[in-house]
Amino acid sequence: MHRDVEKILITEEEIRQRLDVVAQKILLEFADDELVVVILLKGALVFAADMCRRLPVKMTVECINVASYHGDIKSSGKVKFLDAKLPEVAGKKVLVMDDILDTGLTMRAVVDSLRELGASEVKGCVLLNKKKERSVTCEADYRAFDIEDEFVIGYGLDFQGKYRNLPYVGVMKQ
Ligand code: XMP
Repeated sequence: MHRDVEKILITEEEIRQRLDVVAQKILLEFADDELVVVILLKGALVFAADMCRRLPVKMTVECINVASYHGDIKSSGKVKFLDAKLPEVAGKKVLVMDDILDTGLTMRAVVDSLRELGASEVKGCVLLNKKKERSVTCEADYRAFDIEDEFVIGYGLDFQGKYRNLPYVGVMKQ
């Protein structure tokens, strides 16, 4: 275990097993469709790479750069789109992949924007869902794990840019 990690919340093996299950659920709905997977950078990179490879469907992959944490451990409450242009999704079925649903603001903003761009369907898929009251109504359609409301790192999630490469999800030492 990394020396900055207090405890491992979700092991590599648990992630592997759960992603298999979630992928099967996604396939039940989209097996015969052409899908645009939209990965929210940078946090969802590791999760999405593993999830996409479990989905043998016709797929294109797009990335959107969004920021809401700005290097701290609390959400700034604002979602910033950092790209000049969003992917072209008019008439397409879209699956948005993010690392974690916390306040729900990021997923809400991205889903709303893609709908405004004319996507025929937009669904959300997250690795982690923080169990908490949310100020915006936003549930991800597919969630791998529910966790308590604490700051987590690893498997794509960072603290000040570090720890994304940890193969598990853990809680950082204070
Ligand atoms: P919201 O609040 O918009 O947050 O649902 C989603 C984005 O915030 C980041 N986030 C975290 N990053 N550990 C992290 O490393 C956390 O516990 C955490 N909670 C939220 C994340 O980038 C996510 O996309």
